[in-house]
Amino acid sequence: MKTKTMGGEKTTVGAEHGADGAGRNAMVEGGGRLVVDSIRIEYRHPVTRLPFCAVEEASLSVSPGEIVSIVGPSGCGKSTLLGAIGGLVPFSQGSITLDGQPVSAAGTDRAVVFQKPALLPWRTALNNVAYPLRLQGVRRSEATRRARAALDRVGLGGFADHYPDQLSGGMQQRVNLARALVVEPELLLLDEPFASVDAQMRQILQDEILSLLDHRSLSAVFVTHQIDEAVLVGDTIVVMSRGPGSRIRAVVDVPLSRPRSPEVRRSAEFQALVDQVWGIVREEIADEFVQLRTSQAD
Ligand SMILES: Nc1ncnc2c1ncn2[C@@H]1O[C@H](COP(=O)(O)OP(=O)(O)OP(=O)(O)O)[C@@H](O)[C@H]1O
Ligand SMILES: [Mg+2]
Repeated sequence: MKTKTMGGEKTTVGAEHGADGAGRNAMVEGGGRLVVDSIRIEYRHPVTRLPFCAVEEASLSVSPGEIVSIVGPSGCGKSTLLGAIGGLVPFSQGSITLDGQPVSAAGTDRAVVFQKPALLPWRTALNNVAYPLRLQGVRRSEATRRARAALDRVGLGGFADHYPDQLSGGMQQRVNLARALVVEPELLLLDEPFASVDAQMRQILQDEILSLLDHRSLSAVFVTHQIDEAVLVGDTIVVMSRGPGSRIRAVVDVPLSRPRSPEVRRSAEFQALVDQVWGIVREEIADEFVQLRTSQAD
């Protein structure tokens, strides 16, 4: 069974987290595999070129084997924060370390799965999965062997020779997941990986990823809009406040045991956690609407 620690102990931080820094130490002290400490992320406005603060201050920690889900209102900076962890988005303050090493660029220790599969259409499923290994200089025979094993793990062993346009959207996303897993990353970064598939396929993929993550000692950060999905998969839920200038609004511990059966969705404990997280997100969204109405009335 996987145990979850936050800086050495289980932690539940209330809605004040991040607002006064009270929760930061609970998330960062003691160090996890991944430590994001007080990072600030700015973009430039595409037209005016004026700086725009997407994430004002964010701290979080991911221990070995832990899965942290990130939720928050649309546009609050979830993908931005994930991009910074992946080394794809620069940050102007704070630090990010993975196993003590600063993160400043993309690296093979992290694999990112985006919403859209982005497979190479001229390569078969097998060759898409083997491709990152070939880029790392792994011999063709070894890369093929590992790619086959990764496809088997996501239930697509029988589709190795299919091209992406011969696969359904859900199957393409599973190939995408296999491509991320094949490099055996230290940290898996998932940005709404099931957002573009239908509700039934989404549930199947949720169950698959739950089983995959339960049976591997892999740390992961999982961004999703779906609060039930965040609770199902995560050991910890990080709720971001609405943007711009987003912060970590709350950190909620998920004390559901592992390995976690998909049936857990039907338990009262699961529903109570979903309600708790949804309550926090709803407050953020409600604040946004109040502010919008006020600014329209002015
Ligand atoms: N490359 C960019 N240049 C300028 N602004 C950007 C860029 N990428 C994102 N933003 C802005 O940063 C903010 C956060 O965007 P981000 O995509 O991280 O939000 P999100 O929480 O992932 O949203 P969603 O839930 O809708 O996916 C938004 O206001 C967005 O317009
Ligand atoms: Mg996003």
